[in-house]
Amino acid sequence: MAKIKTIGLLTSGGDAPGMNAAIRAVTRSAIYSGFKVKGIYRGYRGLITDEIVDFKTQNVSNIVHHGGTILKTARCKEFTTPEGRQQAYDVMRSHEIDALVVIGGDGSLSGAREFAGEFDIPIVGLPGTIDNDLYGTDHTIGYDTALNTIMWCVDRIRDTASSHERLFFIEVMGRNAGFLALNGAIASGAEAAIIPEISTEVDQLAELIQNGFRKSKNSSIVLVAESPITGGAMGLAERVRKEYPQYDVRVTILGHLQRGGSPTAQDRILASRMGAAAVDALLEGQRNVMIGDANDEIVYVPFNKAIKKDKPIDHDLVDTLRRLSI
Ligand code: F6P
Repeated sequence: MAKIKTIGLLTSGGDAPGMNAAIRAVTRSAIYSGFKVKGIYRGYRGLITDEIVDFKTQNVSNIVHHGGTILKTARCKEFTTPEGRQQAYDVMRSHEIDALVVIGGDGSLSGAREFAGEFDIPIVGLPGTIDNDLYGTDHTIGYDTALNTIMWCVDRIRDTASSHERLFFIEVMGRNAGFLALNGAIASGAEAAIIPEISTEVDQLAELIQNGFRKSKNSSIVLVAESPITGGAMGLAERVRKEYPQYDVRVTILGHLQRGGSPTAQDRILASRMGAAAVDALLEGQRNVMIGDANDEIVYVPFNKAIKKDKPIDHDLVDTLRRLSI
């Protein structure tokens, strides 16, 4: 394998709090180990359109506490075509970039796997997504901050919900995964979480109402994972208005609020550890792996595994939520 001299670094897909801490960690660890670093702007799009600059340690000063990504990000359709990837490869070589570190979610790591396979490039991925839906890692960068944001928002909604004695459906992000909804519900003391992982097995709404979930309460909060499988908060509210008109229902969709804000200590530490580990992985000759954390240890997860889309939810947590909401 040719010796790596220059590492290209990009963020791709939806941004996540902690991406800047990861950019800082990769850049500084790489320079510490004698590599050159090039920052690629706007994800894979910047690789195609040649938006690449030399990164020194100063480029990543004073960013550890900022949300978003200083490298900007994008979802790039062109990179899904062989022509787009060829162009990206040509640009990459013109900058003498020998290896890439890609910070992003499921779609970004799928793109990395494709690219690495076609052009035999060493690529290491960092799991950067609020959704926590990558297999092989207990946490993704940005997930803890998003969870805290959800908790903060639900605490505020609870005040008005209880004053008006209303039933609130609060929709949270997660794409097709229910991690944010489930753990957000536990952290905020919500009555239930309606999540795609169990939506096909049980009618969660009917179960909730039949169990008399408001017997001892004057208001209720239900977190709903955005997903066509759950029906979303709007869909569920519509159903309640028709089937259970005795309830005064309201909907809040938290939306992109969940993607912003200063990262929590946990996300900053995770991103810093993972960023340093990405450089170690390249030094060890690893390629096409995502850095994960499993039981607080850094692990290398092959791209194929990481993007399998079947990261299981913890059924004990589902049970805990059920027991705590009586
Ligand atoms: O993957 C992160 C995420 O925030 C998902 O939770 C959400 O479904 C999606 O991105 C939203 O994407 P966009 O910002 O492109 O609308």
